[in-house]
Amino acid sequence: MRRPDNVSAYIAIAQRLFQSEKLPDGGRDVAARVFERLRTPSDDGARRHTRYPACEWLDAALAPFIDDDTDFGAAARAIKALEADLGWSRRSSGVNGSDGYIDAHVHGMICGPRGAESRYDVQLGFSLMLPHTRYPDHSHPPEEAYVLFTRGEFRQNGGEWIDPGVGGGIHNVRNNPHAMRSGEVPFLAIWCLLTREGD
Ligand SMILES: [Fe+2]
Repeated sequence: MRRPDNVSAYIAIAQRLFQSEKLPDGGRDVAARVFERLRTPSDDGARRHTRYPACEWLDAALAPFIDDDTDFGAAARAIKALEADLGWSRRSSGVNGSDGYIDAHVHGMICGPRGAESRYDVQLGFSLMLPHTRYPDHSHPPEEAYVLFTRGEFRQNGGEWIDPGVGGGIHNVRNNPHAMRSGEVPFLAIWCLLTREGD
Protein backbone atom coordinates (compact mmCIF):
# COMPACT_ATOMS: atom_id res chain seq x y z
CA MET A 1 0.00 0.00 0.00
CA ARG A 2 1.01 3.60 -0.46
CA ARG A 3 1.11 5.79 2.62
CA PRO A 4 -0.48 9.25 2.26
CA ASP A 5 1.99 12.14 2.28
CA ASN A 6 0.46 13.78 5.35
CA VAL A 7 0.95 10.60 7.38
CA SER A 8 4.52 10.17 6.12
CA ALA A 9 5.35 13.78 6.96
CA TYR A 10 4.14 13.45 10.53
CA ILE A 11 5.95 10.14 11.12
CA ALA A 12 9.25 11.62 9.93
CA ILE A 13 9.01 14.63 12.25
CA ALA A 14 7.73 12.67 15.23
CA GLN A 15 10.57 10.19 14.88
CA ARG A 16 13.06 13.03 15.37
CA LEU A 17 11.21 14.46 18.37
CA PHE A 18 11.09 11.08 20.12
CA GLN A 19 14.86 10.74 19.79
CA SER A 20 15.53 13.93 21.76
CA GLU A 21 18.18 13.80 24.47
CA LYS A 22 15.55 15.38 26.72
CA LEU A 23 13.65 12.08 26.87
CA PRO A 24 14.48 9.33 29.34
CA ASP A 25 16.50 6.52 27.73
CA GLY A 26 13.55 4.12 28.01
CA GLY A 27 11.32 6.57 26.13
CA ARG A 28 13.76 6.88 23.26
CA ASP A 29 14.12 3.12 23.21
CA VAL A 30 10.41 2.30 23.01
CA ALA A 31 9.96 5.00 20.38
CA ALA A 32 12.76 3.51 18.28
CA ARG A 33 10.91 0.19 18.28
CA VAL A 34 7.63 1.90 17.34
CA PHE A 35 9.23 3.72 14.40
CA GLU A 36 10.92 0.52 13.27
CA ARG A 37 7.44 -1.04 12.90
CA LEU A 38 6.15 2.11 11.20
CA ARG A 39 8.64 1.63 8.39
CA THR A 40 6.02 -0.76 7.00
CA PRO A 41 2.70 0.95 6.18
CA SER A 42 -0.34 -1.03 7.32
CA ASP A 43 -3.95 0.17 7.21
CA ASP A 44 -7.18 -1.82 7.55
CA GLY A 45 -9.24 1.23 6.54
CA ALA A 46 -11.19 1.52 9.82
CA ARG A 47 -11.92 5.18 10.63
CA ARG A 48 -13.55 7.20 13.37
CA HIS A 49 -13.93 10.86 12.51
CA THR A 50 -16.39 11.87 15.25
CA ARG A 51 -15.33 15.22 16.70
CA TYR A 52 -15.61 16.35 20.32
CA PRO A 53 -15.74 19.81 21.91
CA ALA A 54 -12.00 19.92 22.69
CA CYS A 55 -11.19 19.46 18.98
CA GLU A 56 -12.06 23.15 18.60
CA TRP A 57 -8.96 23.94 20.70
CA LEU A 58 -6.53 22.34 18.29
CA ASP A 59 -5.67 25.61 16.55
CA ALA A 60 -5.17 27.41 19.86
CA ALA A 61 -2.84 24.66 21.10
CA LEU A 62 -0.76 24.71 17.91
CA ALA A 63 -0.76 28.50 17.43
CA PRO A 64 2.28 29.34 19.60
CA PHE A 65 4.66 27.39 17.34
CA ILE A 66 2.88 26.56 14.08
CA ASP A 67 4.91 29.15 12.13
CA ASP A 68 8.23 28.24 13.77
CA ASP A 69 11.15 26.97 11.74
CA THR A 70 11.65 24.06 14.16
CA ASP A 71 10.60 20.43 14.38
CA PHE A 72 7.76 21.60 16.64
CA GLY A 73 6.55 23.98 13.95
CA ALA A 74 6.83 21.28 11.30
CA ALA A 75 5.00 18.82 13.57
CA ALA A 76 2.24 21.37 14.23
CA ARG A 77 1.75 21.92 10.50
CA ALA A 78 1.75 18.14 9.93
CA ILE A 79 -0.90 17.66 12.63
CA LYS A 80 -3.02 20.42 11.11
CA ALA A 81 -2.69 18.77 7.68
CA LEU A 82 -3.97 15.51 9.23
CA GLU A 83 -6.91 17.04 11.08
CA ALA A 84 -9.63 15.67 8.79
CA ASP A 85 -8.09 12.17 8.84
CA LEU A 86 -7.50 11.77 12.59
CA GLY A 87 -9.30 9.24 14.73
CA TRP A 88 -10.65 11.22 17.69
CA SER A 89 -11.39 9.66 21.06
CA ARG A 90 -11.57 10.56 24.71
CA ARG A 91 -11.48 8.85 28.08
CA SER A 92 -14.49 8.77 30.37
CA SER A 93 -13.15 6.38 33.01
CA GLY A 94 -10.49 6.63 35.71
CA VAL A 95 -10.26 8.56 38.95
CA ASN A 96 -9.12 12.07 39.96
CA GLY A 97 -10.00 13.77 36.68
CA SER A 98 -10.92 17.47 37.08
CA ASP A 99 -14.55 18.57 36.81
CA GLY A 100 -15.63 18.54 33.19
CA TYR A 101 -12.45 16.85 31.98
CA ILE A 102 -14.33 14.69 29.49
CA ASP A 103 -15.28 17.69 27.35
CA ALA A 104 -11.96 19.39 28.14
CA HIS A 105 -9.70 16.83 26.45
CA VAL A 106 -9.41 14.78 23.30
CA HIS A 107 -6.96 12.33 21.73
CA GLY A 108 -6.05 12.31 18.06
CA MET A 109 -4.91 8.98 16.58
CA ILE A 110 -2.57 9.17 13.62
CA CYS A 111 -1.28 5.59 13.38
CA GLY A 112 -3.24 3.09 15.43
CA PRO A 113 -6.76 1.71 15.72
CA ARG A 114 -9.15 3.79 13.57
CA GLY A 115 -6.54 6.47 13.04
CA ALA A 116 -5.40 8.08 9.80
CA GLU A 117 -3.47 4.80 9.30
CA SER A 118 -5.50 2.18 11.15
CA ARG A 119 -3.32 -0.59 12.59
CA TYR A 120 -2.91 -2.53 15.81
CA ASP A 121 0.83 -3.06 16.38
CA VAL A 122 1.60 0.53 17.46
CA GLN A 123 -0.15 3.77 18.37
CA LEU A 124 1.08 7.20 17.39
CA GLY A 125 -0.99 10.23 18.31
CA PHE A 126 -1.45 13.16 20.66
CA SER A 127 -3.48 14.43 23.59
CA LEU A 128 -4.99 17.89 23.74
CA MET A 129 -6.36 19.45 26.92
CA LEU A 130 -7.87 22.82 27.70
CA PRO A 131 -6.18 24.95 30.37
CA HIS A 132 -6.64 23.87 34.00
CA THR A 133 -7.54 20.29 33.15
CA ARG A 134 -6.42 17.26 35.09
CA TYR A 135 -6.64 13.98 33.20
CA PRO A 136 -7.64 10.91 35.22
CA ASP A 137 -5.14 8.41 36.57
CA HIS A 138 -4.86 5.65 34.05
CA SER A 139 -2.67 2.80 32.92
CA HIS A 140 -2.53 0.49 29.93
CA PRO A 141 -0.61 -2.59 28.98
CA PRO A 142 1.40 -1.10 26.08
CA GLU A 143 4.68 0.59 26.93
CA GLU A 144 4.60 4.28 26.00
CA ALA A 145 6.58 7.48 25.54
CA TYR A 146 5.28 11.06 25.57
CA VAL A 147 6.84 14.30 24.29
CA LEU A 148 5.45 17.63 25.52
CA PHE A 149 4.80 20.38 22.96
CA THR A 150 3.60 22.90 25.54
CA ARG A 151 3.88 23.57 29.24
CA GLY A 152 2.27 20.83 31.30
CA GLU A 153 2.91 18.30 34.02
CA PHE A 154 3.02 14.53 34.36
CA ARG A 155 2.81 12.23 37.33
CA GLN A 156 3.76 8.56 37.48
CA ASN A 157 2.89 5.98 40.16
CA GLY A 158 1.27 8.63 42.37
CA GLY A 159 4.59 10.49 42.72
CA GLU A 160 5.39 14.20 42.41
CA TRP A 161 4.06 16.21 39.48
CA ILE A 162 6.89 17.03 37.12
CA ASP A 163 7.19 19.36 34.12
CA PRO A 164 9.65 17.73 31.72
CA GLY A 165 9.79 20.99 29.72
CA VAL A 166 8.86 21.55 26.09
CA GLY A 167 10.51 18.79 24.06
CA GLY A 168 11.02 16.64 27.13
CA GLY A 169 8.86 13.70 28.03
CA ILE A 170 8.23 10.61 30.07
CA HIS A 171 8.45 6.87 29.63
CA ASN A 172 5.79 4.50 30.95
CA VAL A 173 6.64 0.84 31.34
CA ARG A 174 3.77 -1.61 30.83
CA ASN A 175 0.78 -0.90 33.11
CA ASN A 176 2.51 2.05 34.81
CA PRO A 177 -0.14 4.35 36.41
CA HIS A 178 0.18 7.93 35.13
CA ALA A 179 -1.69 11.21 34.75
CA MET A 180 -1.18 14.64 33.21
CA ARG A 181 -2.46 18.15 33.80
CA SER A 182 -2.44 21.51 32.09
CA GLY A 183 -1.80 24.93 33.59
CA GLU A 184 -2.55 28.34 32.13
CA VAL A 185 -2.25 27.32 28.49
CA PRO A 186 -3.73 24.55 26.33
CA PHE A 187 -1.75 21.31 26.66
CA LEU A 188 -0.48 19.25 23.76
CA ALA A 189 1.64 16.12 24.08
CA ILE A 190 2.40 13.50 21.45
CA TRP A 191 2.69 9.83 22.37
CA CYS A 192 3.65 6.50 20.94
CA LEU A 193 2.81 3.05 22.26
CA LEU A 194 4.22 -0.35 21.42
CA THR A 195 1.47 -2.96 21.42
CA ARG A 196 2.13 -6.60 22.14
CA GLU A 197 -0.03 -9.43 20.96
CA GLY A 198 -2.95 -9.72 23.38
CA ASP A 199 -2.79 -6.07 24.59
FE1 LIG B 1 -0.92 6.93 28.62
